[in-house]
Amino acid sequence: MKEKVESIKNELSEDLKEVKNIQDVQNLKVKYLGKKGLVTDLTSNMKDLSIEEKKEVGRLSNELKGLVTETLTNLENKINNEELEKKLKNEKIDISLPSTKVSCGAPNILEKLIEEVEELAISMGYDVVEGPEVEKDLYNFELLNLPKGHPARDAQDTFYTDGDTLLLRSQTSPVQIRTMLENTEKTPIRIICPGKTYRRDDDDATHSHQFSQIEGLLVDKDISLANLKATFDVIAKKLFGEDRETRFRPSYYPFTEPSVEMDISCFNCGGKGCNICKGTGWITVGGAGIVHHNVLDNCGYDSEKWTGFAFGFGAERLAMLKYGITDIRTFYTNDLRVTNNFDRKDV
Ligand code: DAH
Repeated sequence: MKEKVESIKNELSEDLKEVKNIQDVQNLKVKYLGKKGLVTDLTSNMKDLSIEEKKEVGRLSNELKGLVTETLTNLENKINNEELEKKLKNEKIDISLPSTKVSCGAPNILEKLIEEVEELAISMGYDVVEGPEVEKDLYNFELLNLPKGHPARDAQDTFYTDGDTLLLRSQTSPVQIRTMLENTEKTPIRIICPGKTYRRDDDDATHSHQFSQIEGLLVDKDISLANLKATFDVIAKKLFGEDRETRFRPSYYPFTEPSVEMDISCFNCGGKGCNICKGTGWITVGGAGIVHHNVLDNCGYDSEKWTGFAFGFGAERLAMLKYGITDIRTFYTNDLRVTNNFDRKDV
């Protein structure tokens, strides 16, 4: 037995000289410690031995097994470490190499502004409601107190899709009509409606045949211009800064009575007069008013009991003012340089 152990040891030390890589070590593990390995084989005829012999063979083979295992494991670790060292040396990172650019998207600046108004409105208890862009003449004009032939239709001439009943909506105001009609319970309403609108227009730096509006409608009891003014004040300050002042100027819209233009004090000159406010100190950002009694009655809200206010902003106009954009076409040309330029933390 002792000779056998010695000869295995010798064979191992010969084998070790030949080891070149980790695979060689694996092979040696199999050769010596595997199921049919040389060390394992030492105990194969244990059952035929006496108790004394069994003890001796057991002790010797265990010792050998321990020795072989330790030797091969140490060798394995050594080779692994060497390979790792080699890898680390070869894989030095060259930080002077230019990196691969990962381009990531940025929110569209117009969408960003609309979302900002939406979030503010939601915080004030408004729901965000959308309506179709292909609209009925009935909702876009007639029920808004603009019957056929009304002169105020001229300013909102649009694209008809089928003669004279279906059109591309010229304003988001028809969403007011839809909401009031759909609310069969005739309960109070507080909505904000952003969306695309269309008009026959010659496109230039400040006009586009397609643009966006943000409409607001509140219907309840005892609503006055004071409520509208307070609401506008909050929106103006949120969008253009806490020290903005607001004012109403008399105006005309068929669906509101009285109607107003909503102005904010110029954020550029603070009201002194500059080229942004055309020397007036004020900038007009939308139209508004107290909902006309005909509109309420048209939609089943008894105008003897209900009152409300409505307002409409041009979304591009708000974004142009807020971000200093001088050409409305900037929003539609999808120039990534523009989009990325506005995706900064400070805007
Ligand atoms: N719809 C109007 C427009 O496109 C804007 C507007 C004015 C909306 C007054 C309103 C409002 O709801 O009350 O010119």
